[in-house]
Amino acid sequence: MREEERTFVALKPDAVKRGLMGKIIERFENKGLKIIGMKMLQVTNEIAEKHYEEHIGKPFYPSLVKYITSGPIVAMVIQGFDAVAAVRQMVGATNPLNADVGTIRADFAQVMQYNVIHASDSVESGKREIGIYFKPEEIFDSWESQVEKIVYEQEREF
Ligand code: CMP
Repeated sequence: MREEERTFVALKPDAVKRGLMGKIIERFENKGLKIIGMKMLQVTNEIAEKHYEEHIGKPFYPSLVKYITSGPIVAMVIQGFDAVAAVRQMVGATNPLNADVGTIRADFAQVMQYNVIHASDSVESGKREIGIYFKPEEIFDSWESQVEKIVYEQEREF
């Protein structure tokens, strides 16, 4: 039986300010993925440093921190079979100019620095990032998704 995965997704400040929250969240719901955690929060410099530790020292790091702290984000935990790959496919390449048409970044963004959304690049990164933004009691995975029953019918017994 295939394992379900969890991934961390953030709607960045430009997505919030441009009124794109609903449109983007709807795509994940339409796909049949299960949103098991969601909150709006202001990213502090300390949180940004933890989240983007692998980018510390890179030329774009200061502007990345300025951008991600420039307004509230919507943080989400999304669960589903192969959720990491499924979400990254929907999100598209980091640079919106290289993202496939139909992906979130191709459809809503134009510039790498303002690419509207973040998604974990592996299950391991997902665990680390979920741990930065969510306490265990802020994750709700026991509710029954009616959509899941159908989209994953082949994958497991419900
Ligand atoms: P994200 O998927 O959140 O991960 C790191 C972010 O840094 C990335 O999206 C972009 O917003 C930004 N980023 C990554 N690479 C570059 C780059 N070469 N130049 C500018 N910004 C970048």
